[in-house]
Amino acid sequence: MDHQAIKNRFGIIGSSAALNYALNVAIQVANTDLSVLINGESGVGKEVFSQIIHVLSARKHNPFIAVNCGAIPEGTIDSELFGHEKGSFTGAVDSRKGYFETVNGGTIFLDEIGEMPLGTQARLLRVLEAGEYIRVGSSKVQKTDVRVIAASNKDLLEFTQKGRFREDLYYRLNTVPIRVPALRDRKEDIPLLFRKFAVDFAERYKSPPVQLDEEAKNVLINYPWPGNVRELKNIAEQISVLSQDKHINAPVLRQFLPENNFSRLPVLASQTNGGANQKEFNNEREILYKLFFDMKKDVNELKKMFFDVMRNPSAINAERYHTENMLGEYQGDSHPPMRQPSQPVILNTTNGIQQHEEIEESLSIMDKEKELIIKALKKHRGKRKDASMDLGISERTLYRKLKEYDINE
Ligand SMILES: Nc1ncnc2c1ncn2[C@@H]1O[C@H](COP(=O)(O)OP(=O)(O)OP(=O)(O)O)[C@@H](O)[C@H]1O
Ligand SMILES: [Mg+2]
Repeated sequence: MDHQAIKNRFGIIGSSAALNYALNVAIQVANTDLSVLINGESGVGKEVFSQIIHVLSARKHNPFIAVNCGAIPEGTIDSELFGHEKGSFTGAVDSRKGYFETVNGGTIFLDEIGEMPLGTQARLLRVLEAGEYIRVGSSKVQKTDVRVIAASNKDLLEFTQKGRFREDLYYRLNTVPIRVPALRDRKEDIPLLFRKFAVDFAERYKSPPVQLDEEAKNVLINYPWPGNVRELKNIAEQISVLSQDKHINAPVLRQFLPENNFSRLPVLASQTNGGANQKEFNNEREILYKLFFDMKKDVNELKKMFFDVMRNPSAINAERYHTENMLGEYQGDSHPPMRQPSQPVILNTTNGIQQHEEIEESLSIMDKEKELIIKALKKHRGKRKDASMDLGISERTLYRKLKEYDINE
């Protein structure tokens, strides 16, 4: 299969030398059993590369599983990966197979490997060196034949110097390194990617694709894209959904780029301590954008309803019916809805005076965040990985927030 065919098959867009080089290494290494370490910033496409390697390998008919080491609590990661025996810890009511057992013959993708606890790293090293592992609470050595592809957006070598990552494991994993380039290091791919996403979203939302003029293209190319392809995709979606005019010029585009809006946004309390890390900061900022866009949509819908009824007061019953139906959408949520069905928007035309009843709505950022998290979990049927991607936060952050807000979805 030539490179272009592989790109088409996996939906990879781009033709920069750095991307082609990374793809070349992935193709060449696929058919060996060597461990691969994929490095690159968040959102560059590391997971896509791991799938390419598996699908082009002799293991392609065997299982592939992606495990996010950053999202599994430290106390359960050994059991998830290597299994456990009944009674080996409180709550271990049955014995359980781990991924290294169930995926035997296939490939495991260990994402965010830098977050793996040191004890688990030692167990992983044994798998890589001898193909052996022991279930938690057992003394029986078991054999497995699993190919490991690991990924990190951190500098693992630096982690080894700090004692956070085993040096022997680092060199064992790093037999073949693949560096997926950041978007800002392959600027020529940016317009291609935007075009592709604009066409995809136009199809999804049944509207003409948005088009950038030359100046807007320049703005797009020169934006640093800290969230890489994932961020570009999000922005393309926001523009596709929210822009009435499909011809986008530079000032319009700038409104969608976080840096320009940033100063107008409130600051979350947790960000005011100087230690907040930049990635989480950006991710939380993305949540706020989503939140504002949702609110903007709500306000526009309400405005439209209000003016419709002003124009045609006899339609009030129909409008009210529609309003209550719309509010009913929230009823399934275990979290109190943003607008309670008992507080519908009622346009009161008594005495010919039209009044707009106050809508009691929580404006707390934390409430909104909780609500978005619940929505995302519902949308993705409880799949935390997909929900966290949709929310633009890491699975670990999502996990932390579920605990913090006491969400049991
Ligand atoms: N070259 C590309 N062409 C088209 N889409 C891409 C490309 N690279 C990545 N994507 C898309 O960008 C999104 C992010 O990719 P992916 O999840 O693989 O990133 P990642 O590097 O694993 O990020 P993280 O470190 O946050 O886990 C996905 O929707 C993926 O399909
Ligand atoms: Mg990933």
